[in-house]
Parts: sequence; structure tokens; C-alpha cells
Amino acid sequence: MTDAVVVTDEGSIRIVRMNRPEKKNALTRAMYAEISRALREADAGDKIRCVMLAGAGGVFCAGNDIGDFLNASGGGLDPSGHNFLTTLASCRKPLVAAVGGIAIGVGVTMLLHCDHVVAATGATFSTPFLKLGLIPEAGSTMLAPMRMGHARAFSMLVMGRPLSAEQAAEAGLVNTVVGPAEVDKAALQAAHEIAALPPGAVAVTRGLMRGHLGEVLKQIESESSHFKDLLQSDEARAAFQAFLGRKK
Ligand code: COA
Repeated sequence: MTDAVVVTDEGSIRIVRMNRPEKKNALTRAMYAEISRALREADAGDKIRCVMLAGAGGVFCAGNDIGDFLNASGGGLDPSGHNFLTTLASCRKPLVAAVGGIAIGVGVTMLLHCDHVVAATGATFSTPFLKLGLIPEAGSTMLAPMRMGHARAFSMLVMGRPLSAEQAAEAGLVNTVVGPAEVDKAALQAAHEIAALPPGAVAVTRGLMRGHLGEVLKQIESESSHFKDLLQSDEARAAFQAFLGRKK
């Protein structure tokens, strides 16, 4: 258990909020484990019909905790991050995201597994994996080109160019852009709209739409094995140390 993830159920909606605003909701191993637990639990019964992912403090998520990356770069990568990605990809309940501000790294790639994304005007989406000496994960090397076309996916995933909320909507990553104060409300409204539909028909339709899950899981495995190797490279370690030491 960790206080850095708050799980609340509002009727048939489960809200999973990343709650580490002092670190821009960067995800630690404990947070990955808690989100995975909340998703698996939602999946296990009939009560929850939709899961909403959100962040605290006007931020969505600044990606993986870079201190954890540095610790893992010595070898012995904890499986919680990988388990989170496979749990998220395999989740059978519809996923809605409320992106209240910055989304970076896995904070962006997790959105490729969501069914409906609401973003705040001013939210930004960036995936600086290569700048850190890493590669994109979460099946994004397959899902991002499928979603937004190769050119836009290359610019975001490889070149690390950020997208504004409006650009993310144009690219098909985001459904709606609303004022920052409206994000949670709009996402919750979408979640209620989904939850009000006949759940059996939603599950079948969503399953058919995500018929390539096996391929996605395979892609996650391939990315993971490269990711683990690169995490231990000198250039990745130097990038993590540069970030963590930048204020000294
Ligand atoms: N891992 C660990 N700590 C992080 C973090 C991350 N991914 N992102 C932010 N933080 C921490 C900062 O170190 C800082 O901690 P401190 O107050 O103890 O120094 C705190 O969160 C606030 O961040 P700060 O950089 O001071 O705020 P900012 O508004 O100037 O910038 C970001 C916010 C998110 C743009 C910037 O922190 C950033 O670039 N983070 C790294 C994002 C990243 O590369 N993630 C990995 C992607 S693969």
C-alpha cells in the first residue's frame, strides 16, 4: 500500500489518482504495484464498469521516477513497472483518463491503452525516452504509429517533441480539451456515460476493437528486453544523474 495512489469508487466508477504532486506524480515501484492492484481488482468483479485514471496537483504524471531508474540501472530491475504495463494493456474494463497537466514518458504511453482521454488546455504530452538513452515502452512503438501515423509518432516518440493538448487531440490521443478546472468533471461524466451502457455489450465491443492484444503484449515484451539493457548503459545512467543533480 502507498498513499501516493488514491483509489476511490464512486458507484460503478473506480478513480485511480496518482497522488505524489510534490514529485509531479512520478511513478515509483510502490505506485505501479498499487495501480496494478486497483486495476486487477476492478477487473475481477462486476461492480466496477469503468476506471478513471487521474493525477493530483494539476499534473497527470511525469513518468517513471528517475531515482528508481538510476537504482535499477545497476541491474535487478524490479518487475512492478513491467507488471503495470501488462496489467494495463490486459485490463478488461474501459479506461478513461483525466489529464490535468503535464504528461511525460509512461504518463503519455499509458494513454494509448485508454479508451477516452480528456485533457486540460495547457496540458503537454512528451516522451523524452531517447534523450534519457532509453526507448519508448508500453507497446507505444506499435500503438502510437497506429494511432497517429508514423510521422507524428516518430516526432513524439523518437525526437521527443512535445504535443500540446490541441495537437494531442488532433493526433487522436485525446478526445476532448477542456479548461483545467473542468478536466476531472468531464472525464467522470464520460466514465458515467460508459458505465451506463450495457456492460456485456461494452466488453464485447471493446474486446473486438482491441483484438490485437496478443501483439501488443508481444511488443511490450520486446520493448522491455531492450529497455532493460539500455537502462544499464553509461549514457542512461549519466542522463539520470544529470536530472537528479540539476539543482545542485
Ligand atoms: N522522477 C523523479 N523525480 C521527478 C520526476 C521524475 N520523473 N519528475 C519530477 N520530479 C521531481 C523533481 O526532481 C522535483 O523534485 P525536488 O523538488 O525534490 O527537486 C519535483 O519533482 C518537482 O519537479 P521540478 O523539476 O522542480 O518542476 P518543474 O515544474 O520545473 O518541471 C517537469 C517539471 C516534470 C517538467 C520536470 O521535473 C521533468 O522534466 N521531469 C522529468 C520527466 C522525465 O524525464 N520523466 C521520465 C520520462 S521517460
